[in-house]
Amino acid sequence: MSGLLLDKIKKQAAECQNDLVRIRREIHQHPELGFEEHKTSALVADVLASLGLKVQRGVGGTGVVGLLDGQEGRVIALRADMDALPIQEQSEKPYKSRIPGRMHACGHDANTAMVLGAAMVLAPLRERLSGSVKFIFQPCEEQGPGGAQAMIQASALEDPPVEAIIGIHTFPLLPAGVIGTRPGAVMAAVDNFRITILGEGGHGASPHLSRDAIVAAASAILSLQTVVSRRVNPLDPAVVSIGTIEGGSRPNIIADEVRMTGTVRTLDEGLRKEMPRLIKEVLQGVAQAHGVRYRLEYEEGYPVVRNDPAMARLCLEAAAEVLGSERAVTLEQPTMGGEDFAYYLERIPGCFLRMGIRDEEKGIIYPLHHPKFDIDEEVLSLGAATLAYTAVKILNRARG
Ligand code: NI
Repeated sequence: MSGLLLDKIKKQAAECQNDLVRIRREIHQHPELGFEEHKTSALVADVLASLGLKVQRGVGGTGVVGLLDGQEGRVIALRADMDALPIQEQSEKPYKSRIPGRMHACGHDANTAMVLGAAMVLAPLRERLSGSVKFIFQPCEEQGPGGAQAMIQASALEDPPVEAIIGIHTFPLLPAGVIGTRPGAVMAAVDNFRITILGEGGHGASPHLSRDAIVAAASAILSLQTVVSRRVNPLDPAVVSIGTIEGGSRPNIIADEVRMTGTVRTLDEGLRKEMPRLIKEVLQGVAQAHGVRYRLEYEEGYPVVRNDPAMARLCLEAAAEVLGSERAVTLEQPTMGGEDFAYYLERIPGCFLRMGIRDEEKGIIYPLHHPKFDIDEEVLSLGAATLAYTAVKILNRARG
């Protein structure tokens, strides 16, 4: 029974491949930034409606929710993100971005196509589903506070209540068609900060009559690296990166102010809570040593993406059945990137899947957010089939 269904799902997904390429390219050519995904969400909603799903538009801003009603029973959700990035695409491909300075450089066009593909595969099978599947297309994953919270606040996980959620994202570190995930932490918590060093301006020839914010900032940057290397347990992963710095105006003027921004990544909630204090201690010491003042603004971002262990196992089993066991891999390590999928997982169990899209022979080798990022489109129907079959497996498990 299940074998027959698996064959049906694989066949149906393969038949959708051309449509999925067309949809992905349509979205790729018209990239929209977070909370501006008007065309993308209209396209998504139209496809879902054409499949006979109940469709809600404008959820959490520009989000879309589609409900495929199966037999009475539980509800599981599949989630994609729809936003693009402010990057100028460098590509000769005919389907490259038509919007200057905008690009789907994180593969959200493909994530959206794969989840739509799962809807195309499951819609004709609705009579055989022992529950319902909700398709969640959220706005704005790329920039905090992110679209996931907006979707949750707009009751995307309610009415009917969703009891598990699966997300999928392109992943250039794995070969095309290989799906990876792991139990527990799979991506890091993301917190950002802004530091202002406040000194006293003066003439560059008389540093002793001023308080040099530039030298204090230089010292702060180097000392902040000791938070991870000297204060944090070496067995607990953490990153502190300064991303921007600006200050000063002329070669012969001592700068009175330097502004910096940076990001902190952690995998442990306890350590995450400690990081602001550790950073503050460094800044206090540096400020005192240089006779300057400082301001630290610390902004909590996305939490750790933490997969439910049973869900991760189930997803990998499903992926192995669809793709072959060698193409369903348990990732040894999380990455220190972040994802607002974490917010769904704070409320209900689920799993975040990483779909390999790398193909060296086709020149598809670039990392996420690179101006030459692209995907091997062959993966679109594979992702759709895996998501569809995973949904069926979870619903059947619920029934058992
Ligand atoms: Ni992304």
